[in-house]
Amino acid sequence: MGKKLYIETYGCQMNEADSELALGILQDKGYTRTYEIAESDVILVNTCAVREHAEERILGRLGYFSTIKSRKPDIVVGVLGCMGQHLQDQLLTPSNGADGVDLVIGPDGYRRLPELIDRARGSDPFLDVRLDRHELYSDVDPLRTEGVRAWVSVMRGCDKFCTFCIVPFVRGRERCLPAATVLEQVTRCADEGFQEIVFLGQTVNSYRDGDTDFGDLLRRANDVPGVERIRFTSPHPAKMTDSVIDAMADCGKVMPQLHLPLQSASDAMLERMQRSYTIDEYDEIVGKLRQRIPDIALGTDIIVGFHGETEEDFLATHEYMKRTRFDSAFMFKYSMREGTRSCKWGDTVSEEEKGSRLRTVIELQEGISAEINRSWVGREVEVLVEGESKNGDGQLSGKSRQFKTVVFPGNGCMPGDIRSLRVRGATAHTLIGEWFDTSRAPTATSE
Ligand code: 5AD
Ligand code: SF4
Repeated sequence: MGKKLYIETYGCQMNEADSELALGILQDKGYTRTYEIAESDVILVNTCAVREHAEERILGRLGYFSTIKSRKPDIVVGVLGCMGQHLQDQLLTPSNGADGVDLVIGPDGYRRLPELIDRARGSDPFLDVRLDRHELYSDVDPLRTEGVRAWVSVMRGCDKFCTFCIVPFVRGRERCLPAATVLEQVTRCADEGFQEIVFLGQTVNSYRDGDTDFGDLLRRANDVPGVERIRFTSPHPAKMTDSVIDAMADCGKVMPQLHLPLQSASDAMLERMQRSYTIDEYDEIVGKLRQRIPDIALGTDIIVGFHGETEEDFLATHEYMKRTRFDSAFMFKYSMREGTRSCKWGDTVSEEEKGSRLRTVIELQEGISAEINRSWVGREVEVLVEGESKNGDGQLSGKSRQFKTVVFPGNGCMPGDIRSLRVRGATAHTLIGEWFDTSRAPTATSE
């Protein structure tokens, strides 16, 4: 019997994809995945370092794993990914609440996982956080676990160095997979029955391989038979070139949806963040996207309370969100990250004020999201069915082309099916779907 591996993943989709890589590497060496901590021989936690809150949550979780380890000393507990790279040997210091951690491995060390887990058994805890500017894992077969959606990392690392962000320090320099490898992976995913491909990269649209830019990559993926839907995340606004926008507009399988992190709508803040665009430039991209791609759903990321953010800067962001009406937004309080440039400048906005600004934009966005979703009522949506809805009421759930969650009575359809439904209701986060008429609905009993 092979060893049993339990893995937990925090943070972004790149981390989800990295966990699938780690699972692929370990499965090759005879490990099987378990979802039960109690029966595991190895516990891995793939971590996020982007905000302090994420790290605190993970430290709490590691504390819990150390109690398990005290009862079952043979178990190996490993910390993978960004927080491991960030905190390094601090994670092996018991006073940090993480005693019981046997190994810490950065995002470029997963290939050595089987060997390192073996070494960790019975030895002193150790870390392997060498960054490797060439590591792409292009020959590794990830163990893809999402039902209908396959993550395909097309690049790793980030060269942008936004002043608030830890990612370039923990994930290293930007590097891209060869286009031929990406397309082989897309073909394999389609052959394995995945309907949707999501290209991933920290700044996915700065992808380049020789003459092939990200727009070309989308066009080539669009030609792969068997693929039904293509998405990508997260693009950088400064790299939202006409080539990418044209490819999105021209390719029927590239979905009308984009998550385009804005961070702030004040030029002073954007400059201090070193985002390399102005609000007018960002707005021009939004205009082009909306003009070229009908019904495109736009999402964004917002940081409130960055170093030096005045009430006026904040109001500029609030105004812009009100005017632009994003479909959705992830909104965060600025969190100082040791090692970044802005960390040296300090925090200028009080925790209380950050909280108040955050609540204000969340409230604004909830209203806008609900209104936009309500405007879908009565319309037809094409849904890729994912599985049972989280409500546990026997309904199914899936995603519309705009990546909106649609919940509907299943009537016997299966994950992976693509079906047309009518929207009969909506909340800020969900569309409620119904079948157009019973003759078009598949039924559970076919007589
Ligand atoms: N503080 C708050 N939010 C941050 N993000 C990245 N770094 C920080 C930070 N130090 C947010 C950005 C980014 C998203 C992934 O996380 O909005 O787009
Ligand atoms: Fe961080 Fe900026 Fe790179 Fe995004 S583009 S990962 S925010 S440094």
